[in-house]
Amino acid sequence: MAKPILITGASSGIGYELARVCAAKQHDLILVARREDRLKDLKTQLEAAHGVQVWTYQADLTDATTRQQLFDWAQSLAQPLYGLVNNAGFGHLEPFAKTDWDKQNAMLQLNMVALTHLTRLFLPGLAAQGQGRILNVASTAAFLPGPYMAVYYASKAYVLSFTEAIASELEGTGVTATTLCPGPTESEFQDQAQMGNVELFSGKLPSSAEVAAYGYEAMETGQRLAIHGVTNNVLAFATRLLPSKNLADLMKKLQNPA
Ligand SMILES: NC(=O)c1ccc[n+]([C@@H]2O[C@H](COP(=O)([O-])OP(=O)(O)OC[C@H]3O[C@@H](n4cnc5c(N)ncnc54)[C@H](OP(=O)(O)O)[C@@H]3O)[C@@H](O)[C@H]2O)c1
Repeated sequence: MAKPILITGASSGIGYELARVCAAKQHDLILVARREDRLKDLKTQLEAAHGVQVWTYQADLTDATTRQQLFDWAQSLAQPLYGLVNNAGFGHLEPFAKTDWDKQNAMLQLNMVALTHLTRLFLPGLAAQGQGRILNVASTAAFLPGPYMAVYYASKAYVLSFTEAIASELEGTGVTATTLCPGPTESEFQDQAQMGNVELFSGKLPSSAEVAAYGYEAMETGQRLAIHGVTNNVLAFATRLLPSKNLADLMKKLQNPA
């Protein structure tokens, strides 16, 4: 039996597709999200198609007690993890002064605190094995300020900084940490974030399946930073050259909710 990979946010989009890629590569899986019906459907599909073992765990990861319970339950399976994929996350498009604090707080809890807490809980087990993979899903939003999505962009900058730092700490241990930075991608994210009409999401977007396949390879090969797509790589590089005011002005235009 293969050591499992735990994937958060596996009920849709990039996380769902990552689960499909990992199962096709013969990894057992622990799938986590709030919509358990979707996780159970995916479990049935993947077990039938690939002969792997899949566990599901319903959790709202904004809650610290729930995260600890998830860890304790995962330990009780007596299946040491091979990988941890911190993928669950969401954004919301709105001028900051008008935002609902509870929503912004939940975003911070999920995008940053849950990712950090789960890494802290599971990393010692991976390190003790001298082998393991961590994949943290950030975004190209990590490289620049994002007017009308200020908290989301800042949360992804945190994911990038945090993951690059632990990747360095882990060098030579057999455990690697990869930051995946997708650009705009087809998934439920856009509707959840109420970004339907913004220029940034116009045109043909890569599918979640494409991004997941790319992210899986980056995780498996222990790449530290994986920016999906040539254009996104060029843009990420350009953000290091341009003043942040110009970048903020550009994003303000591209994400104008009006
Ligand atoms: N799509 C894009 O354009 C894009 C670009 C760059 C980065 N990303 C990042 O990619 C990651 C995946 O997003 P996606 O595009 O695949 O969006 P998505 O289709 O909306 O998927 C988000 C996943 O997160 C889960 N989730 C949301 N809130 C949760 C909570 N409180 N507790 C547990 N799970 C929760 C959702 O499951 P439940 O609702 O069932 O809980 C869902 O499975 C996110 O971190 C996002 O920031 C997306």
